[in-house]
Amino acid sequence: MNVEAFRIVGGKKIAGELTVDGSKNAALPIFIATLIEKGTYILNNVPDLRDIRTLVQLLESLGLEIERMEKNSYKIKNNGLKSLTASYELVKKMRASFLVMGPMLAHCGEAKVSLPGGCAIGSRPVDLHLKGFEALGVKINISHGYVEGKVEDLKGTRVVFDFPSVGATENVIMLAVKANGKTVIENAAREPEIDDLCNFLNKMGAKISGIGTGRLEIEGVERLVPCEYSIIPDRIVAGTFIVASLMFDGAITVKGVVREHIESFISKLEEMGAVFEIKGELLSTKTKLSELKPVRAITRPHPGFPTDLQSPMMTLMALVKGTSEIKETIFENRFMHVPELNRMGANITIDANIAIIDGVDNFSSAEVMASDLRAGASLILAGLLAEGETIVNRIYHVDRGYENLEEKLRAIGANIERIKVEI
Ligand code: UD1
Repeated sequence: MNVEAFRIVGGKKIAGELTVDGSKNAALPIFIATLIEKGTYILNNVPDLRDIRTLVQLLESLGLEIERMEKNSYKIKNNGLKSLTASYELVKKMRASFLVMGPMLAHCGEAKVSLPGGCAIGSRPVDLHLKGFEALGVKINISHGYVEGKVEDLKGTRVVFDFPSVGATENVIMLAVKANGKTVIENAAREPEIDDLCNFLNKMGAKISGIGTGRLEIEGVERLVPCEYSIIPDRIVAGTFIVASLMFDGAITVKGVVREHIESFISKLEEMGAVFEIKGELLSTKTKLSELKPVRAITRPHPGFPTDLQSPMMTLMALVKGTSEIKETIFENRFMHVPELNRMGANITIDANIAIIDGVDNFSSAEVMASDLRAGASLILAGLLAEGETIVNRIYHVDRGYENLEEKLRAIGANIERIKVEI
């Protein structure tokens, strides 16, 4: 079978500007939220990604009519749902598909959604989503790999999460906007993508307050009014590009950085010794890679250090003299890039959920494999710096979350191409 890989000839000078596109993790729930109410929506600044195409397929299977107006703009028509089942075939491709459950329950009072199953970075259960639904008056039945939900009496209530899950917070918000009365979500996740979803829903007439805090108050309304909305820039892509900028001694500037969205990441880099100039959404640095010092980082829910930037950060730490550390507290199996980075000459050891990173002078080119989306990005970064030819296999992971990555990198001088390899 033929699959795609990136062939990178690294060690070349690269310099110029990298632009960040719309956020994948904001676009997905906002697309899904159009299931809640009939009408026509326009979504702008939507990234051109495989995950979005997967989601469009799923939403079309449920009855939405979706037209791509321009590269980054979509028109979505909800004329009522034709199916109330999100099949395993479609849900297994992308876990975020489980977010259709809340909106379908809000719109139709019932839904049947496949359990997403595991993925490379961990088991990722949905118990918190279901706990929230049940609190709001949904009867849940799990059988044959599917979750069936039926609204008995959709009533606002208090939902207390014991962990601020991003997906569970989004799913419960999308149901609570149509409940009778007020819902309070305690220990809600506070990621900027959740703020974006709330802002979108409020633009439609929802009554959500406490946005950006761990306590959301949602006053249910009878009807929402479809609208036009523009998605925020992708903070994880921004963070990945900032790492590239530091790896190339500041020769890369990054456009589309919203500092408040990645404050903890930027301040960790500042602790390493990086100095940034941020004008509007343009970030640049004059800091040289050799000036950076080792640090410790711990992944946490927002506003803590984001788990999605853990692997790009590790690529950078691998080149910093001395010993750095990253503790991963969100996903149990998110160090799969470590053996691959070590194959490229990094010196990283793992002790349970802590990676200990001893800096080396440079990576050495090798053939490696992307285990997930962010791991793929970290291997590409390493390949750009390593002298000689690096092959990064399984780049379908990377296509899930980075728009036109090879074109963007080529435009600033990188030698990277997409090739077909036989497996
Ligand atoms: C979202 C992001 C993902 C990011 C993650 C954490 C999207 C589409 N994906 O994923 O890129 O890495 O947030 O920032 O936005 N958990 C439970 N029970 C639940 C739900 C979650 O135990 O019902 C656990 C998970 O197994 C995991 C942790 O909570 O260990 C975080 O998961 P969650 O915040 O829900 O992440 P996602 O929404 O899946």
